[in-house]
Amino acid sequence: MTGDEIVALSKKHTISEWAAQGAVDPIPVSRAEGVYFWTPEGKRFIDFNSQLMCVNIGHSDARVVKAIQQQVEVLCYVTPSGMTTEPRARLGAKLAELTPGDIDVFFFTNGGAEANENAFKIARAYTGRPKILARYRSYHGGTAGAIAATGEPRRWSQPAMPGFVHVLDPYHGVQRGWDTTEESLRHVEEVMQLEGPQTIAAFILESVTGTNGILVPPDGYMQGIRALCDKYGILMIADEVMRGFGRTGKWFAIEHWGVVPDLITMAKGLTSAYVQLGAVGMRQTIADSFREKPFPGGLTYSSHPVACAAALATIAVMEQDDLVDRAHRSGRLMSELLADLAARHPSVGAVRSIGLFGVVELVRHRTTREPMAPFNGTSPEMAALAKFFRQEGLFTFVRWNYFFTNPPLTITEAELREGFAIIDRALTIADASVQ
Ligand SMILES: Cc1ncc(COP(=O)(O)O)c(C=O)c1O
Repeated sequence: MTGDEIVALSKKHTISEWAAQGAVDPIPVSRAEGVYFWTPEGKRFIDFNSQLMCVNIGHSDARVVKAIQQQVEVLCYVTPSGMTTEPRARLGAKLAELTPGDIDVFFFTNGGAEANENAFKIARAYTGRPKILARYRSYHGGTAGAIAATGEPRRWSQPAMPGFVHVLDPYHGVQRGWDTTEESLRHVEEVMQLEGPQTIAAFILESVTGTNGILVPPDGYMQGIRALCDKYGILMIADEVMRGFGRTGKWFAIEHWGVVPDLITMAKGLTSAYVQLGAVGMRQTIADSFREKPFPGGLTYSSHPVACAAALATIAVMEQDDLVDRAHRSGRLMSELLADLAARHPSVGAVRSIGLFGVVELVRHRTTREPMAPFNGTSPEMAALAKFFRQEGLFTFVRWNYFFTNPPLTITEAELREGFAIIDRALTIADASVQ
């Protein structure tokens, strides 16, 4: 099929996520390799967002493709309830090795939202408490509980669900900036007290907030949250769906602050999205609580052998190619490139990054720092920027007043500079509107 035919038929018979369907204009993609992908007509894009921040090892790694093929040839599926397989056994053991502290037991899901749903069920069953605390600037998935925990506008279309309470983040947008760690922790503790700590099962946090702006918590924040959770017997859930598996230069972002959460959720980078898989990991004492009483969850595709084989192969690639350390090293260069953009472009109001997880926030006024597009909105300048990226063959997410720099962890220095050269030219469009 031609690119136009693929787009027309897709638009006629399939739904695109989170969008007014009349406005969607998808890129037809026929193949991908490394940090690049191509349309059927051969237009090449550099992938500066690892698709949905998930293809961490880059596209079409032959070692993972082969592992998937080998597993499919031997065994595609068994029921996860009464049977088990070698890929499942090995993956559980491998994740126990990689995850922090005594997080040693895993329940496998199809993706991030289901991982979070199950984390909530586990926390409620373990503590006997009903409520889940979450932050406003967060996304935890599109299913019922996960979207109720989500704080950002994608939650607004859903009815409020009892049992979910939101707190403010340390960050308040490009105009107002950051609270101190102490201010932010005081706010969280006050909400815990006002809600009644004995009613709160868990606090879920993205270790570094992703879609809502690559918000790296100030030093002491994660440690402070851990201490508050311990003080009130609340479980801490680290949502590592977007930033686990090397994105920030550590296997899991929470390791930057030396904190061991009680539950950890993951997906995306776990298989680099070659096959869908998520997981919730739990500390041994929590797993032990399900020795006598039943575990409160189940999924037909839990522990899918093909997905587990893909995850094992992905992790092996990360280890063989030293991708976690590479993300850390390339991340240093990326933060220099981001700082350089900030120094030269008046439209750049803030840049943030950790490892290869980066964002550029644009402003239209240097002194008032008015964002280039309003919260949950867009503007002609941001639309023009997105159009320029597409024309020039750079793929990334442009959202509200910001855009991301989240390339695969395999990216070379030359490829990173190639992407930043396109961004550099694109920013002159935004600069023209700055007062
Ligand atoms: C932090 C975070 N949690 C959960 C999810 C949901 O994952 P999934 O789309 O695999 O259900 C996402 C997806 O982007 C995410 O970024």
